[in-house]
Amino acid sequence: TNTDLIDPYGRQIHYLRLSVTDRCDFRCVYCMGEDMQFLPREQVLSLEELLRLAQVFTTLGVRKIRLTGGEPLVRRDLMWLVERLGALPVELSITTNGSQLTRFAKPLQRAGVNRLNISLDTLDAERFRRLTRTDRLPQVLAGIDAARAAGFDRIKLNTVVLNGRNDDEVPALVAFARRHGLDISFIEEMPLGRISDHGRAETFCSSDTLRARLASRYQLTPSAERSGGPSRYYRMPDSDIRVGFISPHSHNFCGDCNRVRLTAEGRLLLCLGNEHAVDLRALLRQPDCHEDMLRQAIIDAMQLKPERHHFDLDEEPQILRFMNMTGG
Ligand code: GTP
Ligand code: 5AD
Ligand code: SF4
Repeated sequence: TNTDLIDPYGRQIHYLRLSVTDRCDFRCVYCMGEDMQFLPREQVLSLEELLRLAQVFTTLGVRKIRLTGGEPLVRRDLMWLVERLGALPVELSITTNGSQLTRFAKPLQRAGVNRLNISLDTLDAERFRRLTRTDRLPQVLAGIDAARAAGFDRIKLNTVVLNGRNDDEVPALVAFARRHGLDISFIEEMPLGRISDHGRAETFCSSDTLRARLASRYQLTPSAERSGGPSRYYRMPDSDIRVGFISPHSHNFCGDCNRVRLTAEGRLLLCLGNEHAVDLRALLRQPDCHEDMLRQAIIDAMQLKPERHHFDLDEEPQILRFMNMTGG
């Protein structure tokens, strides 16, 4: 409790997901179209603007900030921001594609990043090339090693599961996570933006299907543990790691949503699956913008938070914004 941020459904907002750039060095097929156009620089919040807003959010009761992208580590001078956010009274975490962690893992940890989520959809180089449209699997694997060596509280892998593309690799990914002492979450793809790579209904693979398949090899028991996000975790008797499932389609989790997002261009987005938003950049860039105005705008914005998303894989995507605008 003690947050000023409460929505019309009584949900308390403690968690801010901060997209620091829409850019990325990968082009994951479920995240972007092939010919992605990125925002011109002046439309993206400066690091000073991001810091100012993050500070305001913490005065309102936000206790957890996750940096996202695009790929947050491609943002120039990101460490300047991370060092300052690390000094705020928040749990600081970051979601990354892992390609630059050999360089950044240790500095991030030293600056106060507590938890790291790293995307990994496959362990096969050819599949990796087709899913991310890059050939940087070796860099990602080296990045995971660097992250393990850096001493974070928790590292979680994220796998978006696409039927026929990487669903058969789920047991191998669990084995990889066990071997390296990493948590792992399997994610049902969400229909954000119009993509041509695959039909989202055809590649849908439900978390229940995956759990049923894993049951022949691993004994998964539901756990009440939560990490503050939508992942529902399972434990195994012979390992310390957690296997999570993020199931926007098969098990709606909006009822206990505790988060809002700031897009790279400074829109305060109240729900990943809707367009309800407030333009904080416009306010921030007014010459007479006081902190109180920002605080009030953020408090008022909570009234716009919708009850839930209504993703429908059988329809054309209702949300044209791609995932890289919000970092998920
Ligand atoms: P924690 O916050 O630390 O628990 O991590 P997380 O797993 O929630 O965050 P991460 O950035 O690793 O994202 C993993 C997946 O969860 C991505 O596909 C996100 O889009 C998805 N996700 C995170 N928050 C929400 C949400 O509020 N709604 C929906 N539909 N998906 C979300
Ligand atoms: N649906 C679900 N997850 C997605 N991600 C990117 N695009 C999508 C999508 N359309 C995941 C990335 C990363 C996390 C931030 O979001 O793989 O792990
Ligand atoms: Fe980049 Fe992440 Fe989108 Fe992949 S999912 S293209 S790594 S922002």
